[in-house]
Amino acid sequence: MNTNKLTSILDLTGDDILEIFDVAAKLKGSNVRDYSNTMTGKILGMIFEKCSMRTRVSFEVAMAQLGGHPIYLTKQDINLGERESIKDGANVLSRYVDCIAIRTFGQEMVEELAKEASVPVINALSDYCHPCQALTDLFTIKEKRGSLDNVIVSYIGDGNNVARSLAFICAKLGTPFRIATPENYELDKNTLSIVDEIASDNFSISVGNDPQSAAKDADVIYADTWTSMGQESEAVTRRNDFKGFQINSELTAQAKDNVIIMHCLPAHRGEEITDEVIDGPNSAVYDQAENRMHIKKALLKLMIK
Ligand code: CP
Ligand code: NVA
Repeated sequence: MNTNKLTSILDLTGDDILEIFDVAAKLKGSNVRDYSNTMTGKILGMIFEKCSMRTRVSFEVAMAQLGGHPIYLTKQDINLGERESIKDGANVLSRYVDCIAIRTFGQEMVEELAKEASVPVINALSDYCHPCQALTDLFTIKEKRGSLDNVIVSYIGDGNNVARSLAFICAKLGTPFRIATPENYELDKNTLSIVDEIASDNFSISVGNDPQSAAKDADVIYADTWTSMGQESEAVTRRNDFKGFQINSELTAQAKDNVIIMHCLPAHRGEEITDEVIDGPNSAVYDQAENRMHIKKALLKLMIK
């Protein structure tokens, strides 16, 4: 893998993605003691301007178990772009750390940081996309199904950061993707035209507003929150607009018997997904969360030179 930035899935080729999956699978199957010197002396700077449990902890554990050291930097600590320019911050951080992960609001900040930094930069979620999540999701599906060929991934909910990264990665890998959102919550036209441009053989996409038809014979049903971080003031409206888009037993009954239920978490039980479904036998949500860590290890191993 040659890229030194992961600002979005668009920075990766299909082969890069498969290489990340191979390395993640190998690390997952190994004893920590066998690779705990891989990153000796290396430092990961982690800028988090939004809350996180999975992304933060999986990055910290991944770096520590590889033998390196993570540093957690909140907005209160460094206030990038306000206390000093992103350019100065990126250049100075590049003198101290070997890789930067950033979770922030605007995608522009991630891209500017990647442009200015001389060390690899990884997007740990922006309003635009969540590439580390999508890598984990397709890795988890491949692990469970053995292959990604003809696996229908149906995302039901908001056309948000998580949905966009899923659409991009499915297009790159040729995995059929369906998305059902309420009206006015669709993925934007620009995203759909990028998906068209990057689509590889066997990829197909279905975009609509009907959860039942998206769920029909699906291999994967995927949920995310209806209200993402930064949209809290819209929560009441959204709860209303997303009625009918809940992942419940009635909806999952439309899918294949061995459907995989996925959610990036955190989940709002009783809103976008019911207890019965998330706790049911087809749920992969905790495996998915665990795999965040294995994918992080692979990314750090491949990107930090
Ligand atoms: N899925 C995910 O990114 O979770 P966190 O927000 O807890 O990191
Ligand atoms: N779409 C959600 C994902 C959280 C992991 C958000 O941005 O808040």
